[in-house]
Amino acid sequence: MQINQTFDDPKTDTICITSNNCHQSTIRTGTVQEIIRQQLKDIANTKVSEATVGYDNAFIVGDLADVHQQYMKWKALLPRIKPFYAVKCNPDQTVVNYLASLGVGFDCASQQEIQQIPEIGVDPTRMIYANPCKQPSFVHYAAKHNVSLMTFDNMDELYKIKEVYPNAKLVLRILTDDSSAQVRLGLKYGAPPETIDYLLKTAKKLDLNVVGVSFHVGSGCTDAQAYADAVALARNVFAQAEAIGYRMTLLNCGGGMSGSNNEHGITFEDVAATLGQAVDKLFPSPDIEVIAEPGRFFVSSAFTACVQVIGRRALIPEEESADIQQQKYMYYLNDGLFGSYLMRFTDNERLNFRVVFKNGVFVYEDKKQQEEAPTFISNVWGPTCSSFDSLLQDVRLPRLELGDWICQENMGAYATCAATNFNGFEKTKIIYTNSTSIGPHNNGM
Ligand SMILES: Cc1ncc(COP(=O)(O)O)c(C=O)c1O
Repeated sequence: MQINQTFDDPKTDTICITSNNCHQSTIRTGTVQEIIRQQLKDIANTKVSEATVGYDNAFIVGDLADVHQQYMKWKALLPRIKPFYAVKCNPDQTVVNYLASLGVGFDCASQQEIQQIPEIGVDPTRMIYANPCKQPSFVHYAAKHNVSLMTFDNMDELYKIKEVYPNAKLVLRILTDDSSAQVRLGLKYGAPPETIDYLLKTAKKLDLNVVGVSFHVGSGCTDAQAYADAVALARNVFAQAEAIGYRMTLLNCGGGMSGSNNEHGITFEDVAATLGQAVDKLFPSPDIEVIAEPGRFFVSSAFTACVQVIGRRALIPEEESADIQQQKYMYYLNDGLFGSYLMRFTDNERLNFRVVFKNGVFVYEDKKQQEEAPTFISNVWGPTCSSFDSLLQDVRLPRLELGDWICQENMGAYATCAATNFNGFEKTKIIYTNSTSIGPHNNGM
């Protein structure tokens, strides 16, 4: 496809970050916009007949400076609470390495996630196996690698841990109000109040070491008060455990902090103020270690996904007499529900595509193009042959042409980690940049 060009050449030097052992990743230094423009320029300048297959794949740009900024925000607003990044949210090795180099700890959900972390030189004391129902061989793996901190919320798990890892440091995950969250985790995990006493007494009888309490107010929590209420419940459970003879030393405040903006009517500042105050009031002793397991907070806003319009079908016959205003379009993109977008739906996140490249012109910042172009009723599909692969139905979009590119911001959390190869499509690759060149890049992490 021949495309008319209107690009400037951006500067995109590359630098490398390496972990102790293995992972090497090229990190560019341009802004997200510059990287997207460069990538689209390269694609547009390539003749399909001479190109490598896949040169025009969808891509995602991840900005480590954004991750760094989130980390600085956490440190400034919640200095007492140590973040243990929830790896499940975006396990990409470059992200994990970067956070490790900042000194962040890790919340792992499986043996595979546990395995990923020490490889980059993180001490097991900076890890928690925070899945209340664990596969026995995974618990054994944790034991062998000294990942001793782990959660439970039921009796069977206690017997399992007694058998496989009796010296583990156990954290009781309690049920708290998650009704305001985008994703309610309490439907699946968390010991209800009426079970707690018996759980703690059984743990004591089994001579297991319960060291703390954890909660999760749900992913994408929209009510700061939920954190304060959960801290109060945790305080009661500390008292219950201490009455049974345990010395409690750890409070784990889970995740749920939004990472992008206050789209849901809540900011990180709101959460930090309420949570920080509740912790200081109810757990004033510096002997209590306070941690949390933020996932989306760190990575959400750092990633922007770009997808190409690879197919189009007009629903009204395109005859000369047809009223163009009434036209409806089906668009087919080169990433979709079975790729990077599955969890937008499971997590109740709206899609809000922005036009990046139109008719050969880079229009990322063209306000007129974004806001004033006439729009048409459109359905947007992913690339597989499945009719479940639907991204948007009956939304108004500007008329798009084959070869146009659109982008979705805030794609760092729960996106590529859930992508499949359904229909043979590759998972979308990530291009990394560090737009402000801040943070611990290039220091042999
Ligand atoms: C145990 C646990 N901790 C932390 C998280 C991260 O949550 P979020 O990404 O909302 O911060 C999750 C998400 O599912 C989780 O299950």
